[in-house]
Order: sequence, then structure tokens, then C-alpha cells
Amino acid sequence: MSLEKLRLKLERKIELSPHFGEITQIYANTIKANGLKTSIGDIVSIKGIDNDISGIVSAIERDYFSIIPFTSTQGYKVGDKVFISQKGLKIGVGNGLLGRIVDPLANPIDNLGEIQKDSTISILNTPIKAMNRGLIDEVFSVGVKSVDGLLTCGKGQKMGIFAGSGVGKSTLIGMIVRGSSAEIKVIALIGERGREVPEFIAKNLGNDLKNTIIVVATSDDSPLMRKYGAFSAMSIAEYFKNQGKDVLFIMDSVTRFAMAQREIGLSLGEPPTSKGYPPSVLSLLPKLMERAGKEENKGSITAFFTILVEGDDLSDPIADQSRSILDGHIVLSRELSEFGIYPPINILASSSRVMNDIIDKKHRENVIKFRKIYSLLKENEVLIRIGSYQKGSDKELDYALSKKEKLEAFLQQDSTTMLDFKEIYTKLDEIFK
Ligand SMILES: Nc1ncnc2c1ncn2[C@@H]1O[C@H](COP(=O)(O)OP(=O)(O)OP(=O)(O)O)[C@@H](O)[C@H]1O
Ligand SMILES: [Mg+2]
Repeated sequence: MSLEKLRLKLERKIELSPHFGEITQIYANTIKANGLKTSIGDIVSIKGIDNDISGIVSAIERDYFSIIPFTSTQGYKVGDKVFISQKGLKIGVGNGLLGRIVDPLANPIDNLGEIQKDSTISILNTPIKAMNRGLIDEVFSVGVKSVDGLLTCGKGQKMGIFAGSGVGKSTLIGMIVRGSSAEIKVIALIGERGREVPEFIAKNLGNDLKNTIIVVATSDDSPLMRKYGAFSAMSIAEYFKNQGKDVLFIMDSVTRFAMAQREIGLSLGEPPTSKGYPPSVLSLLPKLMERAGKEENKGSITAFFTILVEGDDLSDPIADQSRSILDGHIVLSRELSEFGIYPPINILASSSRVMNDIIDKKHRENVIKFRKIYSLLKENEVLIRIGSYQKGSDKELDYALSKKEKLEAFLQQDSTTMLDFKEIYTKLDEIFK
């Protein structure tokens, strides 16, 4: 045995417990084992023929414990040995991650070689303590007119992007990544089909990964990988936030993350509730989302989470729960995208809760004017279209009609042209000149 192999073997030994247990039963998504004293959340390593797989202890009974493995359960046999990993659920991080695409355990998947790691951090952390949370009092510009102008976000804010499939989420996310001035950008792609990942990077990011880290768990990864992919991406964002940096965190999509927890919860025997989601899903969302924010004497994580909603399905438990945790929502509308209006943001259905605290008086007045005129136009849209509105019969509507083109032009933006906040501020003001 070479010296290097011996060193690795010794290193691995230290990481694992001296005691071991044994697999007693194997199912498609879970493994049962006995012979070890474990607690919920322990990371275990199962020794296979070729390599080891890791899993997490998710349920404990008197005589056995259940493990959810990070990869498939194929190839494992009853009697295989199970060790507790002393390292826990941790990933290596460092500046070497910048510009790279990694899996949920921060291993590179972009064929660009090893990643230099400076430290090891835990994937599961507690949210920022209430007393350490910084006030959201600074604009976080994303370079998109309708967002910066009418739904201004603040540093440390948590926003939701609610949309149906194929409406334009990925394109909008790409615009936000390119247009934002954040020092570090962390993108978690959770549950997408594998082929969508390179497509997203090429088409929506223009292959520009400067100061960007992409964490990927595709739909064919195990539910555990999809679940922890999101947490691991958040930990990477926290690592940079703790260095005082302003970080942009984007996750696509919360729905697929919730579906991963649904698979895990159901396979552990949790009862299904609304739309088949077990209760653990709802308690999981704040554990992830509340980790974003601004922290006193540190940096900030400004987060955008996409949530799939079909139609105006208000009964969707994930959309409902997300809305209650987030500080604002951007609603994308299929109707607008069908009309070729991009980005298809339904301004009247969207809002940013912190906006009024971070923009100046003139900006605030312009937003109120915009919303008022635009909603008047929407209310009378049909009348105007069929030509039954007579000019002169309503002064306010006449004024709105005179601004219609300018309002619509303000809402539309080419997906490759980003503007800075000042330009957007001026453009909004010019509508009413
Ligand atoms: N800003 C835009 N400018 C021009 N076309 C756009 C824009 N946004 C979306 N589109 C069009 O809509 C299509 C779908 O957009 P996108 O892939 O962003 O949607 P999605 O919501 O991410 O879809 P999925 O649910 O499949 O992930 C794009 O291929 C593009 O043709
Ligand atoms: Mg998409």
C-alpha cells in the first residue's frame, strides 16, 4: 500500500467512530441499521464494496435506526457496516469556490479540477439572532427597472419570485445576477433537470461566473442531496457574509426543495397533509429562509427564492408558507409573457415590504403615481381595447392614457441590458415630467 493511501486511510479512520453497526433492511429511499447509539441528524458512513456512502440518521426506534442516504441505496447489502462520521454535515469552503460549480457537498462538478478550501463549516446553522439582525436600510440594486423602480429591495431582504412553469423565472434570475452589484453571488439550483444547468449558465448568465458560485442538486440526485443542496448553498453565502461581504443568494426552486422533504418525510412515515406535504416541510422553510438577512458588524445575504405556482392557486401550502416568511414577493404572470411583455412581472400583484424605508420621498411619490395610473389602466383595459371609452369623459383616465406607452416601456426590459439604480430612478421620474 502506498504511503498516500495509508495516510488517507488513517485520516478517514479519524473521521469515523471506532464502533460500528450493521444494515438490517434496505428500501428504495431508506436503510435500517442497528448496533450503534445514534441521535437524529447524525451523519453516518456506510462501507460499500467500491466506496462509502453517507447518510443521515432520521428516525430512531428501540432496536434500530433509519438512515436516509445521500445517494442511491443500490449496491448495499444487509450486514454492511455503518460508522458514525465525527465530522458531521460539513463542507469545505474558501475563495477557491468563486467561479465554480459544485454539488451539495461542495465537490466540484465542472471538470475544472480540485477546489482550494480554507476552512470547514457546518451545513446546518441557526438563523441570525434577532438582536444581531441589522436593519434593512440600504438599497440592494438588481439592475431590473421594474424591480429597482417599483419593488425596490434592500440589503438583507428575502424576496420570493412566484411563477408558473415556463413563465420566465430563470431569465429573471439571470438578469438579477448580472445586474446586481453584490460582491459575491451564490446560486442554488435545486431539483432542475440536469440538462437545464449548463443551459442556464450559458443562456441566462452568459457564461460569466465571476464572483459567482453555483450549487447544483438535480432532479435525479437523492432527495437528501436536494434538501441539503439548499442548506449548503446558504452556508457558503454565510461564509462570505461573515467576512463582511454583501452576498446575493438565489435559489431555484423552493418548491422542488419542499418536494425533496416531502419524499423524505413520507418515507419516514410522516402523515401527508395539504397537497401531500408532511408537517416537517412547513417547519423546514423558515430554517432555510431565515438564515438570510443582514447581521450587525458583518455583511448581508439578500435572497431571492423562486416558488412555483400554477394559476392563482392560493391553496398551495408552500407558496402560502413562503409568503409569510418572506419580506416581499415578485409575481410573474403568464398572461404578460404570452403578450411578449418581458420581464413578465405583475406589478400590481407584487410588493416589497421594506421599500418605503429605503427610498427617498420623490421615488416614493413616483411609485404611488405609477401604481395608481397603471391600476386605472388595468381596470379599464377592456373598455379601452374595444374602443368604447370616449376621451374627455374622465380626466384621470385621460391622463393615464397619455402615460400608457411610457409606463409599459418602463416595465419592459431586454434580458441582456442591465441598468444602474440611478438611471432607473431618473427613468421613473421622467415618466411624469
Ligand atoms: N426577459 C425575457 N426576454 C425575452 N424572452 C423571455 C424573457 N423571459 C422569458 N422569456 C422567454 O420565456 C421562455 C421561458 O423562460 P424561462 O426559462 O426563464 O422560464 P422558467 O420559468 O424558468 O421556466 P421553467 O419553469 O421551465 O424553469 C424563454 O425561453 C424565453 O423564450
Ligand atoms: Mg427555469
